[in-house]
Amino acid sequence: MHKTKVAVSEKNINLIKGGLLIFFAIQGEDDAVVCSDLVLPYLDSLLELKDFKAGANERVILYPSQIQVKDKKRSLLADRLMVVGLGKLSDQEEHLRIEAVRSAGGTISKACETLKVKDVKLVCDDIVGMERAAMAHHLVEGVVLGDYRFKKYKKEDPDTPTFEGISEITVCVDTQAGKVRKSVAKAISIAHAVHSARNMANEPGNSWTATDFADYALKLAEEKELTCRIIDKPKMKKLGLRGILAVNQGSAEPPKLVILEYSPAKKKKSVMLVGKGLTFDSGGVSLKPAAGMQNMKMDMCGGAAVLATMQAIADLKPDVHVIALIPATDNMSGSSALKPGDVIRHYNDVTAEIVNTDAEGRIILGDALAYGIEKYEPDCVIDVATLTGAVIIGLGHHHSGVLGNDDQLVDGLIDAGQTCSEPLWRLPLTKEYEKQIESDVADIKNTGGRDAGTITAAAYLKNFVGDTPWAHLDIAGTAWDFTEKSYIPKGPSGIAVRTLTEFICKK
Ligand code: BES
Ligand code: MN
Ligand code: ZN
Repeated sequence: MHKTKVAVSEKNINLIKGGLLIFFAIQGEDDAVVCSDLVLPYLDSLLELKDFKAGANERVILYPSQIQVKDKKRSLLADRLMVVGLGKLSDQEEHLRIEAVRSAGGTISKACETLKVKDVKLVCDDIVGMERAAMAHHLVEGVVLGDYRFKKYKKEDPDTPTFEGISEITVCVDTQAGKVRKSVAKAISIAHAVHSARNMANEPGNSWTATDFADYALKLAEEKELTCRIIDKPKMKKLGLRGILAVNQGSAEPPKLVILEYSPAKKKKSVMLVGKGLTFDSGGVSLKPAAGMQNMKMDMCGGAAVLATMQAIADLKPDVHVIALIPATDNMSGSSALKPGDVIRHYNDVTAEIVNTDAEGRIILGDALAYGIEKYEPDCVIDVATLTGAVIIGLGHHHSGVLGNDDQLVDGLIDAGQTCSEPLWRLPLTKEYEKQIESDVADIKNTGGRDAGTITAAAYLKNFVGDTPWAHLDIAGTAWDFTEKSYIPKGPSGIAVRTLTEFICKK
C-alpha cells in the first residue's frame, strides 16, 4: 500500500517546474473569481468567456508555456497547472469553509488519477481567509483521503496499469513554514489512519478475523508508543467474558478482546473507546437472508475505526490517556451456536435472554464496556458500532446516530463530527424505551422489537456503563457508502476515525 510523503516549500512559485502546480480560487462579490495574482494572467480568456467561475470543485487545467502573458517577469515555469474552485465562502460557517477546502483536496486526487499525476504542489496563500497551516491541513487531508483504492485482490490489466496513487505532495507557502509543516504532518497521520480503517473493512471475512485484529494491534504497539494486551479465549473464560464467548460459540475462529493503551507522560483526562469488531455477521441461528449477506463483512467497522484512531493518536500524542477495546469475533450458526431462548450471564452479572442471535453486537459490546470500565476507570467511554439496520432506516447514509447518558460528552462528539464533516444526529435514550427490553426470564432481553431499534439497542448497552459518562455511535449507515464525496470513495468510509481523533485531541 503506498504512503504519500509531504514536504513544505518556501521556494518562489514562479520557478516551480515539475509536477502539477495547483492554485485555489473562490467566488467573491458579484461572482467575481478571486485568486492569486500569480495565476490570474493565465485565466484572462477563461474569465472573459465565463468558462471558469470558481464554483465548488470546479477545476481547469492550464499549460503556461502555451499562454502568452503580458508581464514576462511574472510568468510561471510550471509545465501544467490547475486552478480549483472553492465556491462562495464569505458568509459560510467555519465547518463549511473547512469542508470546501477538504473537498477541493478530494477533487485534486480524482484529477491526479485521471491525469496519472503523482507529484502535486499546492499553493497555500490567503485566498480563503484561513491561516496557512489550517488551509494546508484540510487540503492535504482531503487529497490523501481521496487518494485511496483497494486493488489487492484484482489482477492487473497489462494494458491499463493501475494508478498507484500520489507519492508526493508539496505545500507551497510564502510564510509560516514551520507551523504548516506541523499541521500537514498531523493531517497525513489522520488520513493514513483512515486508510488503515478502510483497508481492514475492505478485507473479506476470511482474511480479516479476530486474530487479524489482534495481530494488527500487536504490530501497532511494536511500532508506536502503545501497549497492547490480547485477551484470548482461555483468558476470557477465566475472566467471565461470557457475552463475547456466547456470540463466538458457533465459530471455528477463536475470539479476541484486543486492548490498546496510549499513556502520555502528562495526562489530563482518560477516554475509553470500544469498537464492535464483528468480522462477519451471518446472524447466527437467527440467520440473515442470503441476499446481501456478503456485505456483513463490514460489521467490524467500529473496531477498525477504534484501532485506526489509536494509530493516529500514537502519532499526534495528545495529553489524554486513551484506552481502546475491540471485542472481536464472527457470528456463525451451527450445532454449538448460541440459540434463541438461551440465557447468558454477562461479565457484570447482568443476565440476558437471547431472543434473536442476530442482535449480537450489543452482547459483545456489553461485556467489553463492563470489563473496560471496571478495569480502567476511564473519565468517559465512547463505543462505535455498526449496530442496527434501524439507524439506516432512520438516518440513511448521511448521519451517524449518537445516544448517551451525558449531554456534555454527546455535544462534544457532535461538535467534533461537525468539524470533520462526519455529522452525528442524537436520538433520545429516555427510560420509556427500557420497557421494550424487559424479559420474563432474565434481567433484560437482547431485542426490543421493530420499534425504535437503534434506541433499544443503546438501552441494552446502558446496562453495562453504570454512571460513567458514555456515548454510543451507531455507524451502520455511514461506515459503508457514506454520502459520496470527492474524498470519500464508494465502499468503506473510515467513518469516526477523524471525529474520534478530533474529539480526543480537543480534550
Ligand atoms: N450488524 C447488524 C446491523 C447492520 C445492519 C449493520 C445493516 C450494517 C448494515 C446487527 O448485528 C444486526 O443484525 N442487527 C439487527 C438487530 C435486530 C435483530 C434486533 C438489525 O438491525 O436488524
Ligand atoms: Mn447481527
Ligand atoms: Zn452485527
